[in-house]
Amino acid sequence: MIDDTDSYLSAQSETVNGCSEVQAGHGIVLRHPKKEDALAIHALIKQCPPLDLNSIYTYLLLSEHFSQTCVVAQGEQGPDGYLSAYIPPGKPDVIFVWQVAVHERARGQSLGRKMLLHLLSRPALATVRFIETTVGPDNAASRGMFMGLARKLQAEVSESELFGSHLFGDAGHDDERLIRIGPMRLPPPDI
Ligand SMILES: CC(C)(COP(=O)(O)OP(=O)(O)OC[C@H]1O[C@@H](n2cnc3c(N)ncnc32)[C@H](O)[C@@H]1OP(=O)(O)O)[C@@H](O)C(=O)NCCC(=O)NCCS
Repeated sequence: MIDDTDSYLSAQSETVNGCSEVQAGHGIVLRHPKKEDALAIHALIKQCPPLDLNSIYTYLLLSEHFSQTCVVAQGEQGPDGYLSAYIPPGKPDVIFVWQVAVHERARGQSLGRKMLLHLLSRPALATVRFIETTVGPDNAASRGMFMGLARKLQAEVSESELFGSHLFGDAGHDDERLIRIGPMRLPPPDI
């Protein structure tokens, strides 16, 4: 088991077709998604409650237009992990992390954190100083992952209301509270 995630990712990084690829251990490669990944990403998200399952078209758009800010963790049996994120219009210092999913077979190996650190190391995020995301009240895994990342980055965390459950109508959706991490020192440690 590798403890120093940052040094490990850094040491294993290489550029393939102009995009950085990173060996993340356990035969997993971190890379940009492409549109041919959308179906498998949709299948992965379906297996990762409590994430909302978006349409295949959504994952096609994310892979086609937002691949610079999304990550696939390619394992030997298909995607072991996926992260979607974007820089909100007019907020070049923020990366908003939308969904993070790690297949059950790959959990507990720091893969969620490795995908986040890999994302932060990309040139497309050179202007980013803050990570924003939303977390449901009962999602201990998501909260644990983002708090662990904040500790690793030695960055402050603030929490506020963003999307109250009433905004989801009758869907019975939990509140989605905004977690903001930063400002981060750049570049991220050892990446
Ligand atoms: C959340 C998720 C992506 C974490 O993936 P993972 O690769 O197993 O997480 P990591 O191994 O990188 O763990 C990172 C940190 O989170 C903590 N953590 C992970 N799972 C946890 C759990 N179930 N309960 C509490 N803490 C947890 C780890 O202990 C670790 O803490 P550390 O930084 O102090 O070492 C994965 O559990 C998942 O796909 N869940 C379903 C979908 C989801 O809820 N996604 C998040 C919403 S965007």
